[in-house]
Amino acid sequence: MGKWMAAVLAAGKGTRMKSRHPKVLHRVGGVPMVERVLAAADKAGVTEAAVIVGFGADEVQAALGDRVTYVLQAEQLGTGHALQLARDALAPADFVLVVCGDTPLLRAETLRELVAAHAADGAAATVLTTRPADPTGYGRIVRGADGRVVRIVEEKDADDATKRITEVNTGTYCFRAAALWDQLARIGCDNAQGEYYLTDVIGLLVAAGAPVAGVVCADAQETLGVNSRAQLAVAEKVARERKLAALMADGVTIVDPQTTYVDETVEVGADTVLEPGTILRGATVVGRDCVIGPATELADTTVADGAHIHRTYAHECRIGACTQIGPYVHLRPGTVLADRVKVGNFVEVKNSVVGDGSKLPHLSYIGDTDMGAHVNIGCGTITVNYNGKIKQRTTVCDGAFVGCNSNLVAPVTIGAEAYIGAGSTVTKDVPARALAVGRAKTLVKEGWVTDDTYKK
Ligand code: UD1
Ligand code: CA
Repeated sequence: MGKWMAAVLAAGKGTRMKSRHPKVLHRVGGVPMVERVLAAADKAGVTEAAVIVGFGADEVQAALGDRVTYVLQAEQLGTGHALQLARDALAPADFVLVVCGDTPLLRAETLRELVAAHAADGAAATVLTTRPADPTGYGRIVRGADGRVVRIVEEKDADDATKRITEVNTGTYCFRAAALWDQLARIGCDNAQGEYYLTDVIGLLVAAGAPVAGVVCADAQETLGVNSRAQLAVAEKVARERKLAALMADGVTIVDPQTTYVDETVEVGADTVLEPGTILRGATVVGRDCVIGPATELADTTVADGAHIHRTYAHECRIGACTQIGPYVHLRPGTVLADRVKVGNFVEVKNSVVGDGSKLPHLSYIGDTDMGAHVNIGCGTITVNYNGKIKQRTTVCDGAFVGCNSNLVAPVTIGAEAYIGAGSTVTKDVPARALAVGRAKTLVKEGWVTDDTYKK
């Protein structure tokens, strides 16, 4: 079959984005556009790639890591110039799949079909084309009388008749490598933009008698090239609808898809219900039979089966099975809740482990704490973890009962099944099964109120 490699064009600044960052790193469905393109190529079976970087090269390399080869295009002289520079990196390839880093909606299936069509046709090049509602801005596909692709004309170089062509270049192509390198060496920059156009290779191949094929992608949305923030928003909407459709197909209930946002990378188990206003980001994984939302944002958080999470913001947390969280809860990084934990309204938990069945029902701050199982934390309890210089830990052992409005001043340990009287400020360790009361005694002065008390 011959060896395939992908070339990903990602050196452009993306001037119309008006951004400090390279265009291809702008995210769609939570994933940088160029990463989506790479993933699609990979899934289509083209697993080795050279990425051509230029503007913000360091940033792109930091985002993608060492799974690809990089080629530096220091000056962005055009898509053809970019590919010329990648010749050495692509030397092992018999066939090259070229994709632009700014087409984030391309599906793996489409690339797989394109690769298969190219292999079957035996053409020197196969262009993925489409017919968008509005072809403005794209290169136009000129076909000959026999229906084969003859050349591609960029919008800026097109006369009125050519502009009326509705079939456009998606920027995605397959090439027989030898034919590509032959013709790529011959392209010039005598055009409206003074750039070396990759698209000129098509006309040169045809002129040299090498056949070029065109495969039409029926869904024009899929090949959207993102050049502006407005197009980025269109891509985001399409990616989001696709992700939600995939989740629903897998058995997730989404009460209101219009107000539900789920990143590409997120997994959700069957029979889980996503209520309106749910936002799931990054490496979040939600189990089965959960209810998430309304108005809940989970980022890089795992949730085990059967959890109910209402009006909550959790990031970098692990939430156990059958937990009940919310409303109005903030779970901060490093929070690990075991199974059947209850975290109620207006509670913040940070960098803490909470054991099985423990309850933090109301108005508490629990930070840097190791809490055992079946602990009851009374309303308004605060772990005093910061002395102005360092953060210190609090330990609350299994079955302890902490009365309302207590301050546990770290470092401190509350022993198993110990009791803390309401309103206590605890500054030393409490042994197992002890009662600690750390508050002023109630003073009662009988008859303190006289008739004069209420006189002005
Ligand atoms: C390109 C095609 C056009 C097609 C459209 C599809 C050319 C000449 N035109 O136009 O026919 O309809 O894509 O979206 O190829 N890049 C580099 N180095 C450069 C220039 C660009 O790496 O010197 C990269 C960009 O980062 C981008 C991709 O190539 O990812 C496409 O470049 P862009 O400037 O967006 O090309 P278009 O004008 O959209
Ligand atoms: Ca583009």
